[in-house]
Amino acid sequence: MSANPKDRHKKYHSYLAKRVNQISPSGIRRFFDLLASMEGVISLGVGEPDFATPWHITEKAIESLEKGYTMYTSNLGMPELRQELSRYLKDNYKLAYDPDSELLITVGVSEALDLTIRAILNPGDEVIIPDPCYVSYSSCVILAGGTPIMVPTKQKNNFEISAADIEAKVTNKTKAILIGYPANPTGAVMPRDKLAQIADVARRHQLLVISDEIYARLVYNVEHICFATLPGMKENTIFLGGFSKAYAMTGWRIGYAAANKEVSASMTKIHQYTVMSAPTMGQVAAIEALKSGEDSSAEMVEEYNRRRMVIVKGLNDIGLPCFEPRGAFYAFPSIKSTGMTSEEFAERLLIEEKVAVVPGSAFGQCGEGYVRCCYATSLADIEEALSRMKQFVAKYRKV
Ligand SMILES: Cc1ncc(COP(=O)(O)O)c(C=O)c1O
Repeated sequence: MSANPKDRHKKYHSYLAKRVNQISPSGIRRFFDLLASMEGVISLGVGEPDFATPWHITEKAIESLEKGYTMYTSNLGMPELRQELSRYLKDNYKLAYDPDSELLITVGVSEALDLTIRAILNPGDEVIIPDPCYVSYSSCVILAGGTPIMVPTKQKNNFEISAADIEAKVTNKTKAILIGYPANPTGAVMPRDKLAQIADVARRHQLLVISDEIYARLVYNVEHICFATLPGMKENTIFLGGFSKAYAMTGWRIGYAAANKEVSASMTKIHQYTVMSAPTMGQVAAIEALKSGEDSSAEMVEEYNRRRMVIVKGLNDIGLPCFEPRGAFYAFPSIKSTGMTSEEFAERLLIEEKVAVVPGSAFGQCGEGYVRCCYATSLADIEEALSRMKQFVAKYRKV
């Protein structure tokens, strides 16, 4: 704060909360802004489906608007949506969550993450997180007064987080492990045995596990293991899921948290005072997605898989070695052969060849040396982007 209160208005920085000053704006947004000012750009940047929401889902929401369903819903979310979700989780994972006390409908997984972290952290508590990871994880922890403790993951280990590395970071301040598989930005999927080892660490040290499974439906020739299904883990796992990716519903803003009664009640308190309820129209759409969205989802997954194979082969062929992603819709090639930082690579590629990718450094220190290429875009665009990238790499490749 300025010594003279009259000068305070000149230094807005002094009004701002230290916690907010501690975090940086998302590295992804900066690229969107640059991209928005250019023409003819092929974007492999944005992490969202290029498909419109399946029409039968949108139609249900339109009908609900015509009928005047435009009010708030229960804080927890519409009873019918919670019941459908409870059924879905039982059918898919054999997990029984009580729709009235263990399921909370949120404004995307984004809100569910924030609520979870705020509901469990006291100042100084530590949360163990893989690096690289989704941009929100460490910022949400810092905003809640906690400390993110990053655990490096490496391409040579398929970007899987190791239980031994997690355990080495456990202190008496550790509250939780926050993981998200299938992973953004790497596309990594964790096999059952490795998740079981993490469950063992959580059990022995009495840690909560926050499992962000927003990409659960997007796996290719492998099984997605839901963390809460591991023996004894349901009680200690806060399971986050959503509709944005599986049903191409990013703009509807619906997600959920499944957790034990106590954690769920704490999250609901924050939710009711800050958000009140998730968008009503989105909740109606989500009911339809759960009831009959599976076929549309399967079609989209099939198409992502086709694109995945093209982009991974293409990147490897042009000299950007790419680990084979088994989930989500991202390829994460190494750009180390160009000698550029990931930020330089992304910026020059955008300016010189009009292809947008996201620098790996936006996802943590271990993302340096990589870029994220989202393949939720048409095959024609992917092929054109690859041909532009080939020229770019040929120009700059050092080895
Ligand atoms: C890993 C991960 N978690 C959560 C989110 C947030 O999703 P939403 O708030 O749309 O449900 C995203 C979005 O890209 C993500 O990649």
